[in-house]
Order: sequence, then C-alpha cells, then structure tokens
Amino acid sequence: MGRRSLRKIDPALDLSRHLRSLDDLPALLDVAKNLFNHPAPLEIEVGSGKGLFMATASGEYPQHNFLGIEVVQKYARFAAAKLAKLDRTNAVMIHGDAMRLFREMLPSGCAVAVHVYFPDPWWKKRHKKRRVMNVDFLRDVVRTLEPNGSLHFWTDVEEYFLTTLELIAANIELQGPIAVEVNDPETDMDYQTHFERRMRQHGLDVFRAEFRKE
Ligand SMILES: C[S@@+](CC[C@H](N)C(=O)[O-])C[C@H]1O[C@@H](n2cnc3c(N)ncnc32)[C@H](O)[C@@H]1O
Repeated sequence: MGRRSLRKIDPALDLSRHLRSLDDLPALLDVAKNLFNHPAPLEIEVGSGKGLFMATASGEYPQHNFLGIEVVQKYARFAAAKLAKLDRTNAVMIHGDAMRLFREMLPSGCAVAVHVYFPDPWWKKRHKKRRVMNVDFLRDVVRTLEPNGSLHFWTDVEEYFLTTLELIAANIELQGPIAVEVNDPETDMDYQTHFERRMRQHGLDVFRAEFRKE
C-alpha cells in the first residue's frame, strides 16, 4: 500500500516550539527542561508518521507531555506543523532515530508510556534485523519506563506481532500482553494513527497489545 503525498505546510507557520532535531539536543536529555514548558508525565511515540496520534492524544490528555520521534524529516515536519496549528504546548516532534534517542539520550524511568504503532515491517528476511522491535530497543524501553509504565504495540503484520510477543516473553521484563479494547470510529479522525485508519478502512486486521513494567 503506497503512501499519499503530503499536503503543503504553510510557510508562515512557526515550527520552532514543535520541531527539534536530535542532533541539536543535549547528549543526556532533561526532557521537561529541554523540550517542554513544564514537567508532566511523559508519553513517547516512536515513528509518528503524519502525527495523528500525537495531535489527538496531546489534546485528550493535556496533563501529559507527548514526545514524538520520526526519522523521516518531511513527516517529522508535517506532524510538528499539525501540533503548531493546534497550538499544543504539551507536544513536541523530534526529527531523528528513535534507537539512538532511547539508547543514549533518555534518562531511566522518564516515561509513563511508550507507543509504537505500525512500525515498518521490513519484509525481506535479510532486512528483518532493521526492525524497531528488537531486543536491544525493547530493553531500552524498559529502562526508560517508570514502574507501572506501559508499552503499546500495534501492527497489521501478524508475523511481526507474534515474533515480538515471543521475543518479549523470552527476553524482556514486561508483563503482558494485555488485550486492547477496540473502538468503533465515529469520524474519519477517530483512529489511533493514519495507518490504523488505512488498514481498517481496507478491511485488514490490526493486532494490538499492551505491556506493563512491574
Ligand atoms: C509504517 S509508518 C507508521 C506511521 C504511524 N505510526 C502510523 O501508524 O500511521 C512507520 C514510521 O516509523 C518511522 N520510523 C522507522 N524507523 C524509525 C526510527 N528508527 N526512528 C524514528 N522513526 C522511525 C518511519 O519513517 C515511518 O514514518
């Protein structure tokens, strides 16, 4: 399924409060101080794409801070533009590699939730090592979560889903999988992410799981 082209971003829109580059941030992040106006429970989304989750969740939970990281610059900008238009003070996009952010820059126990929705499946056998949901990344997620913090993982690829569940059961200190309730969307924006909308509108399955750190 190919991606549609992105709508143009209004050149007058100021993205400075909503778009940061990983390369310009301190090596060890103080998330509240370096990225937000105020400290608040932190939720991190890995691979935000066009930013539907970031826009919706930051509006629904104004008492939380939301940090999205996206490796493709045009998507990071697009998602940031959405947040800027909505004037969200509790949501920021970082352009950069989530692996590096989690491995090197995030302090331990800084997040209440990590969200990974529809990560690239890397279908070919020789490319599977590029998958985001690998042992090293998942160990970094556990380190980054505070006790009782949660990991949310959704995908349309059953094999990726099952492989990840096995990998977590065998190697990662997380409780789960906990089943996730599915809503009946009332509007076209009433989906967790753009990919969820696309899959469900094409009648394709979505596999969802939540895990908790003890
Ligand atoms: C299949 S898309 C899903 C986008 C969005 N989560 C959704 O559900 O609509 C996966 C996204 O993850 C991003 N991505 C892949 N590897 C990444 C990495 N290492 N760090 C940050 N983003 C990454 C891709 O650029 C892409 O935008």
